[in-house]
Amino acid sequence: MLNRILLTVFLLALVIFGCTNNTTTTAVSSDVTVVIEEVHTGPDLSTIPEGPEGDMIRYGRELVMNTAKLIGPDGSEGHYLGNKMNCTNCHLDGGLRPYGYNYFSTYGRYPQYRSRENAVLTIEQRVNNCVERPHNGSPIPLGSKEMVAFVSYIQWASQGVPIGEKVKGSETYALTFPARAADPVKGEKLYTQHCARCHGENGEGIWLSDSSTYEYPPLWGEYGYQPGSSMFRLIKAAQFIKANMPFDQASWEKPILTDQEAFDVAAYVNDPKHPRPSKKGADYNDISTKYVDYPFGPYDDPFSEKQHKYGPFQPIIDYRKEHGLYLSY
Ligand code: HEC
Ligand code: HEC
Repeated sequence: MLNRILLTVFLLALVIFGCTNNTTTTAVSSDVTVVIEEVHTGPDLSTIPEGPEGDMIRYGRELVMNTAKLIGPDGSEGHYLGNKMNCTNCHLDGGLRPYGYNYFSTYGRYPQYRSRENAVLTIEQRVNNCVERPHNGSPIPLGSKEMVAFVSYIQWASQGVPIGEKVKGSETYALTFPARAADPVKGEKLYTQHCARCHGENGEGIWLSDSSTYEYPPLWGEYGYQPGSSMFRLIKAAQFIKANMPFDQASWEKPILTDQEAFDVAAYVNDPKHPRPSKKGADYNDISTKYVDYPFGPYDDPFSEKQHKYGPFQPIIDYRKEHGLYLSY
């Protein structure tokens, strides 16, 4: 359901002309419809139906919440992931949290043109992108029960949102781009202050006692996400961090970090000196469609790899607009 409140405001405008000898009063009236869009919150779990379709949606939800246990390196249903993270570590509340990489508008936006592959991808292929990069794994077979379950759950989570459209809260939290480049040295201090108590001094996270998965997921290291992941892009990461971290204190309604701090701490988390399961980003077969914050050159604009990684981003955005170049971030 779209949480929209329609307020019809009856506007009465009085225009009064004062003249030397007489006074004319003109009354103009019109109906003005003001649309106030509330943040979309997604469907309630209790509405998953009974029966085989509901069972598939519920299994999809299980996979999103307990990914490592079911399809991790020691998974009971398959061994697809290369690490023990869960989809919900990034797709918060299993993809049902506003500004938390949710699935609210996902189903209706695929098949979709994806610049990295320079091709139109299905929702199944997009799921596998995350299995391969943030989870450092190998693709789930397209017709498998697990893939059908993921897609069934994502379709359920996207219900009520018109095909191809977005709703308020389905996107990442918009930030003001800082005028200076993000600074990983300042970010390190912020990390110690706000993040290390859960994610560890070395970004390694904290395991559950049986090591089946994490209490607090890793941010880097051999079990963290690959550099080809969207989380390795500074704008994407800063938007997520601003609206959601520190996990126990911040929310999109009450963020803790300033926009500049979110960029600085994201720059520290994504510092190339931190080890990750691979060194490279995913290859683009057409460099003209790279995201503004894609941190691996070459590019079709005159800005350096360093500026594409750390900013300032506004000059890049302005340049690309002016020259009619592909613009996405
Ligand atoms: C390390 C973080 C991380 C993990 C773990 C992760 N993802 Fe993602 N995923 C992302 C980011 C970041 C995006 C891009 C979101 C955006 O562009 O706003 C994304 C996008 C997606 C999309 C496309 C969403 C859309 O609306 O276009 C799907 C589908 C998806 N992920 C599924 C999964 C599944 C299923 C898993 C678990 C197997 C998973 N992801 C695990 C970070 C992650
Ligand atoms: C109170 C503990 C806590 C603190 C403090 C905290 N986080 Fe998190 N963070 C979490 C948890 C828990 C998750 C996974 C959420 C889930 O699974 O529901 C997470 C997920 C993440 C993720 C996505 C998953 C991954 O591992 O890549 C990023 C990125 C992240 N946090 C960054 C930060 C940053 C940066 C800070 C400091 C500004 C921070 N967090 C502070 C608990 C915390």
